[in-house]
Amino acid sequence: MNRMVILGTGSAVPERVLSNEDLEKMVDTSDEWITSRTGIKNRHIAGKGEETSRIAAVAAGRALAMAGLTAADIDMIIVGTITSDMGMPSCACLVQKELGAANAFAFDINAACSGFIYALDIADKYVRATPGLKILVVGAETLSARVNWEDRNTCVLFGDGAGACVVTGTAEDRGMLAGKLYSDGTLYRLLYMDSAPSMNKELLCKENDGSYIKMAGRDVFKYAVRSMEGAISSVLAQEELSVDDISLIIPHQANIRILKSLGERLGVADEKIYINLDKYGNTSAASIPIALDEANRQGCIRPGDLILLCAFGGGFTWGAALFRW
Ligand code: ACO
Repeated sequence: MNRMVILGTGSAVPERVLSNEDLEKMVDTSDEWITSRTGIKNRHIAGKGEETSRIAAVAAGRALAMAGLTAADIDMIIVGTITSDMGMPSCACLVQKELGAANAFAFDINAACSGFIYALDIADKYVRATPGLKILVVGAETLSARVNWEDRNTCVLFGDGAGACVVTGTAEDRGMLAGKLYSDGTLYRLLYMDSAPSMNKELLCKENDGSYIKMAGRDVFKYAVRSMEGAISSVLAQEELSVDDISLIIPHQANIRILKSLGERLGVADEKIYINLDKYGNTSAASIPIALDEANRQGCIRPGDLILLCAFGGGFTWGAALFRW
């Protein structure tokens, strides 16, 4: 059976760092509140010339370099994002242009914070069918542009960045072993962003002030923990594995308390859950590939390790993917 393997990983974040102390000067908040409720200390904020596609292209270039490939080798580009530079074309087409990946076809996936997991799952289906394909899978966001910087409930949470993987097929018994995706659109009102003036009259209500992220934090918290636990259990069951077999869980970096609750429910030690949200905040679809790249470059992942990726985000969308490295 053909499986999908990761040939290279890369990531990139904008230059400017916004700390909790900086936020104290912008809204009524404190480093103590943000750290204790979220675990976040800093986030990177995109400036001029750091559009989503540009950050994505830098991350992709680093993944290509690690894979020992050039842009011309890539057959397909999938970008998970909800903050593409433009309404049309897709961010993936702009990444293709930036890289000069002339042989690729390119498209975006809108699955919010689960965008990278969704994109990986699609790439997996392609390379299982055609193992010679080389696919660039990217998660990239500049959510700072969609955050109301006067709303302390949300502005402390998010950051910008991108992560990427180059994948292909193999006949070896390693790579992506299992994946499972879910959605529940009935709950969309708990986390949404009406990014363009909506044609839907129901959305044109007073509190819907344009393009900002709206979030019912406590509900999102509850669903995120339960849903990621369910997705992880499902992929482990597919392979008849237990959580004790897993070397490292690389979850969507939303919030330290969500990840601690997830760890407690799964019964895994803290050190088995990779966390870097203190440095980047919640970068939505970019958070898993940034963390994966960091873990990979720091040597936290060894050949043969079982690695679990899991995400939860607006839609609601959620899912998990299991790899043997
Ligand atoms: N600084 C200081 N006080 C604040 C801030 C802030 N930045 N934000 C909210 N508060 C206040 C509130 O106004 C409220 O004050 P009040 O009691 O006077 O009304 C108080 O703190 C408590 O507010 P809660 O919303 O009840 O705080 P809670 O403990 O639930 O923490 C948080 C809020 C961190 C958003 C939490 O609900 C959470 O982690 N939710 C998950 C949401 C999340 O991670 N979303 C990311 C996007 S979705 C995803 O990626 C999965």
